[in-house]
Amino acid sequence: MTRPILLVCAAAGAVAVFLTIRPPAQQAPAIATEEYGKRLLAQTAELLPDYSGTRMSCGSCHLDTGLSPGTLSLLPAASHYPRISPRAGASTNVEDRVNECLERSMNGRALPMGSPEMIALAAYIRALGRRNEAMGASLRRVGEQPFRTPDRAADPEAGRKVFDQRCASCHGTDGAGLHAAKRRAYVFPPLWGADSFNDGAGMHRVLTAARFIKARMPLGKPDLDDDQAFDLAAYINSQPRPHKADLERDYPDRALKPVDSPYGPFADPFPLAQHRYGPFAPIEAYYRERNTPR
Ligand code: HEC
Ligand code: HEC
Repeated sequence: MTRPILLVCAAAGAVAVFLTIRPPAQQAPAIATEEYGKRLLAQTAELLPDYSGTRMSCGSCHLDTGLSPGTLSLLPAASHYPRISPRAGASTNVEDRVNECLERSMNGRALPMGSPEMIALAAYIRALGRRNEAMGASLRRVGEQPFRTPDRAADPEAGRKVFDQRCASCHGTDGAGLHAAKRRAYVFPPLWGADSFNDGAGMHRVLTAARFIKARMPLGKPDLDDDQAFDLAAYINSQPRPHKADLERDYPDRALKPVDSPYGPFADPFPLAQHRYGPFAPIEAYYRERNTPR
């Protein structure tokens, strides 16, 4: 009978030592609460160094820890799941979607299902969903001007000029952002390079990036027109960034691949460059004529 008790004491001692020697940044309680989920979203690189490949945070794209209504808000996210994901070719839930952003937008690794961190992130996103329902339509309405795709190919060189004038002051002319070593976090996140989202991320699609840029950037003063947002998205996404392995396995039904997917293979005869930069109207017409449900 003495053995189990001794073991329990030893285990308790080990936990006590573990708690005292933990570095300050990791003092977050490993408790699967909404609050912890919110902290994970805001301080992802700091709290999940083994899972986030970049040193960005989820909040770099899902502004104000997903609370800000509008483009890439996480308020309605929970209501979109479970759903069949054309990219995965399978049913996905909130947890799967979190891992997709970890592996792509954060260029990192999937969190184990059932880990306190995954439970906390999903609990927070579901809590946002309940708040969204309670908010009512009037509060959810935002003054964003929707992005309309210009009827031409995007021009990365024109985008570079706008970038130098309107974006470089925060994100740097080299797109590397501004990292605060003390806080172990980015003040201004990188837009390309080793610490940015990888080439399998949604933000690497020119139309997704243009929608975000038009609605949200420059931060606090989003006043760009469709042409500027389109060219900026093309400029940013023509720069080097980490590569995601096995991209050809995405969208097992290739006819469901978005027109602006920046990687093949495709179910249409259009060249890769046109999928990356447009013009998109001919590709959309091609699928419309074939009645592809998209
Ligand atoms: C580089 C930008 C970026 C980062 C960083 C990022 N995401 Fe995302 N996230 C996106 C984009 C783009 C989408 C796709 C939105 C769409 O399909 O309309 C998305 C979608 C989602 C969705 C589904 C939203 C919905 O309404 O269906 C969830 C949940 C999500 N992200 C969670 C996270 C979490 C958690 C993290 C951090 C681990 C994270 N994201 C980091 C860009 C990002
Ligand atoms: C005043 C500073 C500022 C300016 C100017 C600015 N941004 Fe940002 N940008 C930010 C911050 C800060 C974030 C992260 C959001 C947060 O932490 O709240 C961000 C996030 C982003 C993201 C998503 C995260 C990532 O790193 O991929 C993109 C894309 C982006 N900005 C593009 C642009 C573009 C394009 C311009 C020029 C039109 C621009 N930004 C101008 C501060 C700025």
